[in-house]
Amino acid sequence: MTATEGTEAVTGVPFTLNGTDLEANEGELLIDAAERNGVHIPRFCYHNRMKPVGMCRMCLVEVDTGRGPALQPSCMLPVTPEMKVETESEATKEAQDGVLEFLLANHPLDCPVCDKGGECPLQDNAYAFGPGESRFVEEKRHYEKPIPISDLVHLDRERCILCDRCTRFASEVAGDPLIHFIGRGSHTEVNTFPEHPFSSYFSGNTVQICPVGALTAAPYRFKARPWDLEAVESTATVDASGARILVQSTRNELVRIIGVDSDAVNWSWLSDKERFSYEATNSDLRVTEPEVRDEGLTFRTVRWNEAAKTAVTALSAPPERVAVLGGARLTLESQYAWSKLIKGVVGTDNVDAQMGDGLPAALSLGLPRATIDEVCRPGGVIVLMAPDPKEELPTLYLRLRHAIVEDGATLVEITPRDTSLSDLAAVRLRCTPGTVGQVLAAIADERLDDTVGGVDGFQLRRARTILTGAKPVSVVYGRPNLAESGRYVADAVGGMQRIAPDATYLPALRRGNVNGALEMGLTPGFLPGGSRDKASFEEAWPTVPDFDGKETDGILKAAAAGEIDTLVLLGADPVDDYPDAELARQALEAVRTIIAVDCFRTASSSLAHVLLPAAMFGEVDGTFCNLEGRLSPIRAKVTAPGLARPDWMIAADLAAAIGPDLGFDSLEQLRSEMASTIEGFPEIDWEGELALADGPLIRLGRNWDLEFGQAASAPAPSSSGLRLVVDRKLWDQGTMVQRSPSLAGLVQSAELRLSPTDVQLLNLGDAQWVTVEHGDESFDLPFTVDAGVAARTAWLPMGLPGFDVRQLLATGRSVTNIEVRAAEEGDTDG
Ligand code: SF4
Ligand code: SF4
Ligand code: FES
Repeated sequence: MTATEGTEAVTGVPFTLNGTDLEANEGELLIDAAERNGVHIPRFCYHNRMKPVGMCRMCLVEVDTGRGPALQPSCMLPVTPEMKVETESEATKEAQDGVLEFLLANHPLDCPVCDKGGECPLQDNAYAFGPGESRFVEEKRHYEKPIPISDLVHLDRERCILCDRCTRFASEVAGDPLIHFIGRGSHTEVNTFPEHPFSSYFSGNTVQICPVGALTAAPYRFKARPWDLEAVESTATVDASGARILVQSTRNELVRIIGVDSDAVNWSWLSDKERFSYEATNSDLRVTEPEVRDEGLTFRTVRWNEAAKTAVTALSAPPERVAVLGGARLTLESQYAWSKLIKGVVGTDNVDAQMGDGLPAALSLGLPRATIDEVCRPGGVIVLMAPDPKEELPTLYLRLRHAIVEDGATLVEITPRDTSLSDLAAVRLRCTPGTVGQVLAAIADERLDDTVGGVDGFQLRRARTILTGAKPVSVVYGRPNLAESGRYVADAVGGMQRIAPDATYLPALRRGNVNGALEMGLTPGFLPGGSRDKASFEEAWPTVPDFDGKETDGILKAAAAGEIDTLVLLGADPVDDYPDAELARQALEAVRTIIAVDCFRTASSSLAHVLLPAAMFGEVDGTFCNLEGRLSPIRAKVTAPGLARPDWMIAADLAAAIGPDLGFDSLEQLRSEMASTIEGFPEIDWEGELALADGPLIRLGRNWDLEFGQAASAPAPSSSGLRLVVDRKLWDQGTMVQRSPSLAGLVQSAELRLSPTDVQLLNLGDAQWVTVEHGDESFDLPFTVDAGVAARTAWLPMGLPGFDVRQLLATGRSVTNIEVRAAEEGDTDG
């Protein structure tokens, strides 16, 4: 199924439904055609985002195709011309009665203690279509209940109606075939194999689509009844895909997130991080009052105006000695407010929402932007030059996977290691770190005979054939390796523009609303709307920066050198999150005043001199801008704890204390100023189009003449050295995961991954630990053989317990070479 199937009538297939003449779409299933025309046919196994299987027979209706009426499953039957359908005939009702009586024969009916009670299709269908009483008086089937099939999902086998939704989702949609039917006849049950728990990043979707209470989410079990829940539609903010969600709360506490079926974005699916990290909002560890730090590390709770006074004094330093890191956590409105405060009042351009692990803002703001639907169009070519989407943008991963598996898209993967999509790729170019620009330049220049950057001529020719063919090309690009300079990705984009000049681009940047932050000018060199035109803001804002600011790398270097007096951390934690931990620490120690606007006390905000408590996801109203540039609403459902406030209000307060004020003291006034100052924003209907549909797109690329120089190449490694590949995992030591009790335990320890070739070359034999040498230092850590790691490289994700890979990284280094040998006996003790 594609994104648009089943939504609009196109060519019109005439059919009759309960005596009324109607039209169906070409190929439309009867169950969908009836629903679209206001007739609900009961169902259990059918789900509009998965292939039908006809398992449950609940959707049987009487159909006459010219050969006399017969009962047929409407979820398996495309409408054909002149088909006559009866959904309320005696025969249909008898079939529905029979199916429900059969399903309930072994069903425990423990509705009072079932999480599904009150929102259960089995309850609803039994009331609406069932026989009303059961003739089954024998003992029902019993199982131990419930059993955990993963850390997040519990299974109550007695309640399962064997609809095959969960198993189909796991294998077809997520590509994690970890739950299966086992047993025969009435002993058939859903289960996992003992050595393969249901450890999928998408396990929560099975709970959402299970039509009964057989699958329940551990974080939600017995938390609330559906009739006690209040809900608002919102947007997931943990990554940049912007999945649409329903946020549910009871008694001012967030208790559940449900995926909303947005055609353009997430098709109702969510990653477990998007679904369960709301727990962080409920955390007892939130910062709830303004604090200032006296000498030493002791914080003292103060009133807002005292904290603001200290902050304002620090912000009055010369503009070039003030810098801001972060802003990707904020709503679009808060990002505008902070942009205006920092650039338009304080007057500094040293602002960066990317934490040294992204790409130059000019790329994402300037390249012609693709939508997710365009990237995933049937029969297109998808180029993946980005981190593993399953780890960093899991909802996008599901869309990409569907496009390749179901809709005939061709994947060209240009990454330093295998990703979760590699098995589906038509071509995999494993470029040695530091060479991707040269590989793309070779393809562009048709130098296709020799091996370049570890990629042989055959692969180069194959990639060129696909990329220069007739199919439209879309490029998903980002920083797949934090141990090599982002310069190489920029070079590769330059090469790609020469190979496929009409290609469009989807940025796979890290952090939630990072695309909004770039759009709102929380990046050096740009003002809101991706504008470089200072003159147009000189009238609207009190001032504009009169110098070119620094990116995060430059800001931290300047801070470490004593050139920054005041550093604002806008939800940023460079000590734990910036790839060069040593530089981050030196920088924060050298700065005179750190102002942290944060929800938690992190490694960095604990070093702040002023800590201002911010409201977070679930507590603020505003707008999200996803990786496509699509706007969608972020809505408050609960009140923020203590004195925590939305970030835009904090900016407005500080500006008022510095003077002049920002000119708005409500969200409406703020939006109206955005509409009047940002080109393209006057058209936005904040409450209508934005709230109800998939959301309007802003700025699909400015088509600037981006300048790409000669593709650079990193110096060759020593003959015994390996090039390091560093990226991130979904479960890591980041704030949202660590502050969500159900997720914190899912983080795995760090281990170095080496290719089978190198394990043999390095004579690692039966060793389980290796010694990694880097410069004058050496570290011992466990390792695993991984066929997805390219020869002469080593892979180690960042942010995992056990070993901080950032000890091996340094700002400004083009690539990172390490030496690896078997750890000596005794090295691994403890
Ligand atoms: Fe009752 Fe739960 Fe069964 Fe639904 S699934 S009928 S709520 S016991
Ligand atoms: Fe269907 Fe739920 Fe049983 Fe899975 S556990 S087969 S979704 S009833
Ligand atoms: Fe059609 Fe289950 S919904 S057979």
